Amino acid sequence: MINNTELSRILVTCAKGIAPYLKNEISALGFPILEEKTLGIFTQGSFNDTIGLNMQLRTGLRVLYLLDEFSAYTPDELYDRLIQINWEDYIHKDGYISVTSSVSTDSIKDSRFANLKCKDAIVDRIQQKCGARPDSGPDRDKAVIFLYWKDDICAVFLDTTGEPLSKRGYRKIPMKAPMQETLAAAVILATGWDGNGPFINPMCGSGTLAIEAAFIALNKAPGLLRHNFGFMHFKQYDKEHYQSIRRDLRSKMKKTPDFDIWATDIDPGAVSAAQKNANTAGVEHLINFQVCDFTGTPVPEREGGIIVLNPEYGFRLNEEKGLAGVYKGIGDFFKTNCTNYKGYIFTGNLSLAKKVGLKTSRRLIFYNGSIECRLLEYELYTGTKKPYKTEKADP
Ligand SMILES: C[S@@+](CC[C@H](N)C(=O)[O-])C[C@H]1O[C@@H](n2cnc3c(N)ncnc32)[C@H](O)[C@@H]1O
Repeated sequence: MINNTELSRILVTCAKGIAPYLKNEISALGFPILEEKTLGIFTQGSFNDTIGLNMQLRTGLRVLYLLDEFSAYTPDELYDRLIQINWEDYIHKDGYISVTSSVSTDSIKDSRFANLKCKDAIVDRIQQKCGARPDSGPDRDKAVIFLYWKDDICAVFLDTTGEPLSKRGYRKIPMKAPMQETLAAAVILATGWDGNGPFINPMCGSGTLAIEAAFIALNKAPGLLRHNFGFMHFKQYDKEHYQSIRRDLRSKMKKTPDFDIWATDIDPGAVSAAQKNANTAGVEHLINFQVCDFTGTPVPEREGGIIVLNPEYGFRLNEEKGLAGVYKGIGDFFKTNCTNYKGYIFTGNLSLAKKVGLKTSRRLIFYNGSIECRLLEYELYTGTKKPYKTEKADP
């Protein structure tokens, strides 16, 4: 049986395009980077370490603790290897398990069959050893096992997260086209904003960017909002260790918040939803909300500010026409109202982005679900710093 301080490989998964930001976060927490993948980062740590990772990572989705690796070609071989693992040392005989997987092997067409084989091996083993077996089903809020199977390579992980970390728990009202919380955090980390200088978010929708910005500026671990994680449902869980991590993370939060965050939207329903979500997140008092057109958003004259907009992408032809004026308007607003700020537009529509009419200083690739997007950066300095250029944009 592994104890909760035994080291293993840990895979932290993430959405496409996010791995570089996740890698920085994992390094900053003092963990080694063993391997960078498109959809995750391999690090090393103990079962206890997975608690801190789950609590603190802003851009990761799942923290998977590697239990075993072996070769199997067929579902029967998979079963035979899995039943040899001492599952009774990890899973409570009266507990509940769910199996998820990523399967790409010739012997199986439907990954659900691999999940079933894996589940059977686990419950059969526990039944043999303990005379009772855990329940099983699709719910991810208890013990979750993750199976990776490519060709003949199998890896089995304890999923110490359960419901993905993007589900922070504050977004009770999602509104139209909300950004995933982990994506919003990655976008803010990409801008380099750390709470020094204003953070302005017109078109705030459900408020995800403003709420994640408040978390970053407060040094608030996103996991503090959640009270259920996968690690709590394995035998290795040390409740006292978890509670001491929570206390430590609370003590590291900024005591006197002095940052300036604005969230505005033309839709009163969106502003009200953003306020309610911020209230659930415990940061409503730290964000200035206002119902207004983006051009009416207050932009305080202070150094080091950033302004981030996530306008609609408008993929239907008639929508795109209407939005061309909005994107041009954002460019004009940046020029006239946002001097000395860094401006950012997050969009999945590159032809609309050209209408902004300003030269970008960086164009970072992200994905919103399956849509390839860009975070476009505009340096809006005048005077001593180099002036912004009104040129054909090149996203
Ligand atoms: C793609 S959504 C933003 C989603 C947001 N990032 C989130 O996570 O919920 C775009 C938002 O822009 C707002 N909007 C559209 N036109 C606007 C305008 N002219 N001024 C201000 N807000 C506008 C919409 O009401 C909508 O809430």
